[in-house]
Amino acid sequence: MVVVMGPEATEADIAAVVSIVETAGGEAFVSRGVARTIVGLVGDVEQFGSLNLRGMDGVRDVIRISVPYKLVSRENHAERSVVRVGGVPIGPGTMTLIAGPCAVETPEQTLQAAQMAKAAGATLLRGGAFKPRTSPYAFQGLGEQGLRILADVREETGLPVVTEVVDAHDVELVASYADMLQIGTRNAQNFALLQAAGESGKPVMLKRGMSGTIEEWLMAAEYVAQRGNLDIVLCERGIRTFEQATRNTLDISAVPVAQRLSHLPVIVDPSHSGGRRDLVLPLTRAAIAVGADGVIIDVHPHPETALCDGPQALVDGDLRELARLVRELPPVFGRALT
Ligand code: E4P
Ligand code: PEP
Repeated sequence: MVVVMGPEATEADIAAVVSIVETAGGEAFVSRGVARTIVGLVGDVEQFGSLNLRGMDGVRDVIRISVPYKLVSRENHAERSVVRVGGVPIGPGTMTLIAGPCAVETPEQTLQAAQMAKAAGATLLRGGAFKPRTSPYAFQGLGEQGLRILADVREETGLPVVTEVVDAHDVELVASYADMLQIGTRNAQNFALLQAAGESGKPVMLKRGMSGTIEEWLMAAEYVAQRGNLDIVLCERGIRTFEQATRNTLDISAVPVAQRLSHLPVIVDPSHSGGRRDLVLPLTRAAIAVGADGVIIDVHPHPETALCDGPQALVDGDLRELARLVRELPPVFGRALT
């Protein structure tokens, strides 16, 4: 951490900064320039953060050099991580396709969607049994019945299951069926839920908050990691911007930025970003080209009757192109489809 003193700072102001840092158990190194003085601090950065240095006389700025997320940062873990979900790797070197229905509606619909997903090259099945809906009148998911359907479909297809948990009290229940817990954009800063997921013993897919910065996203991941769970996959799913033409704005640059800052795998959700079927394949191409470690895609056998997000679900006709794309594009970028 560096404290930048203003040109008006007196020797007494500088001495006061040094003194408060040393009293807190840190070391302070004063470096006097022509125009201003800076004080470099060595020690417990979190403790320095509580010293109210910014409010002291003569202090112009306090700059944090190290990142505040320790466990998920690449500063202390240079190698990029691979997270395994039911044996399926997500991480560098591979490109993982996760696909399935947005919501589990019936056993038949879920099985058909899973078969469509598998035929396109998916190695993990997505599907929501607990749906976070904007309207309390919208379909909220089948709950545990939906989890049972997912478990049956896993049995039938061999695809491990990724499914969302929306409430900390349901983590144990969802974890007893799921291979990976999904935390959605609306819960990206639900700290109790993040902590409970961190204690679940299951890998966690953490979506970026729709209005969350990359730092907030990584701090959310840190909540999971802090509970002893480093099996976390970050998912960029589009953010809120002024643009109305798409449901969300896919922040494609977030992929390499997050990969540079964190060792965790980063995947993209082209379905929830664009919100429209015709955008899913172009955004998938972009995700693979930018170096995403995977994509998560909605598919539905009959999107016109879907109870959630039908307009963005891929149908049979699109899946041939999806299959071609995930087979041919990743090798161009040095990756293999898992
Ligand atoms: C889907 O997976 C989400 O639950 C869905 O996108 C929520 O959006 P809505 O409730 O605004 O339709
Ligand atoms: C989902 O993938 O089912 C979902 C609810 O997505 P998001 O949290 O990104 O809106």
